Amino acid sequence: MCGIVGYIGDNKAENILIDGLAKLEYRGYDSAGIAVLRDSKLVIRKYKGRLSVLEEKLNKENLSSNVGIGHTRWATHGEPSDANSHPHANGNDTIAVVHNGIIENFMELREQLEEEGYKFKSETDTEVISHLIDYYYKGDILEAVRRAIKRLEGAYAIAVTSKDEPDKLIAVRKDSPLIIGIGNNENFIASDIPAILKYTRNVYILDDGEMAVIKKNEIELMNIEGDKIDKEVFNVTWDVESAEKGGYDHFMIKEIYEQPKALKETLSPRINDKKEINLDGINLTKEEIEKFSRVYIIACGTAYHAGLLGKSLIQKYVKIPVITDVASEFRYSDPFIDENTLMIVVSQSGETADTLAALRLAKENKARVMAVTNVVGSTISREADDVIYTWAGPEIAVASTKAYTTQMLSFGLIALDMAIKKGTLSKAEADKVIDELISASDKVKSILEDVKLTEEAAEEIYNKENVFFIGRGIDYDVAREGSLKLKEISYIHSEAIQAGELKHGTLALIEKGTPVIALATQDKLYDKMLSNMKEVKARGAHVIAVAKKGNKEVEKSADKVIYIPDVLDELASILSVIPLQLLSYYVAVKRGCDVDKPRNLAKSVTVE
Ligand code: G6P
Repeated sequence: MCGIVGYIGDNKAENILIDGLAKLEYRGYDSAGIAVLRDSKLVIRKYKGRLSVLEEKLNKENLSSNVGIGHTRWATHGEPSDANSHPHANGNDTIAVVHNGIIENFMELREQLEEEGYKFKSETDTEVISHLIDYYYKGDILEAVRRAIKRLEGAYAIAVTSKDEPDKLIAVRKDSPLIIGIGNNENFIASDIPAILKYTRNVYILDDGEMAVIKKNEIELMNIEGDKIDKEVFNVTWDVESAEKGGYDHFMIKEIYEQPKALKETLSPRINDKKEINLDGINLTKEEIEKFSRVYIIACGTAYHAGLLGKSLIQKYVKIPVITDVASEFRYSDPFIDENTLMIVVSQSGETADTLAALRLAKENKARVMAVTNVVGSTISREADDVIYTWAGPEIAVASTKAYTTQMLSFGLIALDMAIKKGTLSKAEADKVIDELISASDKVKSILEDVKLTEEAAEEIYNKENVFFIGRGIDYDVAREGSLKLKEISYIHSEAIQAGELKHGTLALIEKGTPVIALATQDKLYDKMLSNMKEVKARGAHVIAVAKKGNKEVEKSADKVIYIPDVLDELASILSVIPLQLLSYYVAVKRGCDVDKPRNLAKSVTVE
């Protein structure tokens, strides 16, 4: 969601803060600000707009500070504006705060503080924190922060700087990620690793209810009661380049092209030469699997779409009923969770608030919880009983691509592992699936090598107002992901419909020239799908199909066919989504959209 950076050391704080915020801008980007200490004063600069607005203004002055905090915002309370941007200060600008998350009781606190005479300058929930710290400040900033956070309800990652105690920064975490970077004669605070990776690979990952006092040469970790705690240093193994564009115009296209590598890295540590599966972080026994009466797969956005494939694969291979639901709906749907339930949560970031809340609900009700996530050390990975990491590397573009394909591949592994243990797939059947998973990387690579037709398709649809995606079975699930990709980055209205449902309503919207992207990769549904394509074609639709190589018949029902390599029906999504990702990317570029940072969206959604 929003991004936090803090610095204390001998170097220019403002440069390090801006540099770090640039790495976090993908998390939120409607305003940005910093607070630095200079000449015994707290200097706060914050502006509505992209980080570049702040950067330009800072270039015109020489702040020369060695300590400060910074923030990039994605509005929740109050519109994007200079006043609502962080940092927020107390009345006389001696204490400044940046905050990620939501303070649920902020109205109540605000009223109480106003009664005490505090004047508010913004509409944000965050501003109550700076005033509350001021209220408790009696010469000890750590104590004041401790007392203030005891009054807060909700989720927060907070960094605080104070004019009167310039040798330290304070950091606190509850339900919103925060890390402390360990440097040499300098230390850092960040809400996410890429912000500080250029400076250090050694970090402390704060847990809920933990705080830190960060000085130039010392980091003290404690719980909110003030009791000292020890933590292991987490060493980040991925490199800075993987969080840079590396010659590509956008992160999204770079990440699309990283998929062959990401798939290989997700798969190879888990399958040996004898084609045996070993899922490092998953410890389910045959008896435990046999005990499960149902599986819930819970996630948001693109991760939810990966969960739809998980449902098909687990039902097909493991023969257990599966419900896949979006996390924001699941908790309110009176779900049946008990000790015979397996919940699989899927989250690229491992921090999505709704997904985390579903996980916690499952644990309260004694379910077994497995996580599929891309971020080592994320909250979801730490709270789940079992974890399978997608080794996709950092995903920066808001529109998820390589996380999605590696999540689908992970579901292939999870379903196979469970089926083999449970005995619902023979060795020969399992081997066939394993071969398919192994070849996925090369097949994706071959699709990426020839993108001419997809570029042409983008040319054909980029100036349309509505696009429809149709499919049956798992093709419909991919259609939903294709439609989401297109709308989120190109702002074209699009909808995905089960092809068989067209005639019950949506067909009325098809007229001459309406673009319809038809997924026709499922052998058992192929003929039915061709009929549905004919239905839209007969109404004048411009049909762009995605089909398996060799299925020439499809050409009679489409204006253009993009072929993918032959593949087992149930795993076709890993390939068929690639042209859809590319299509949305080319369309967005042609429309001049900000591909990596679509309007109103954020990469990591840590509010419910
Ligand atoms: C946001 C992102 C999506 C992502 C979704 C779930 O909406 O923009 O790309 O699919 O959150 O995020 P997660 O980190 O839980 O996979």
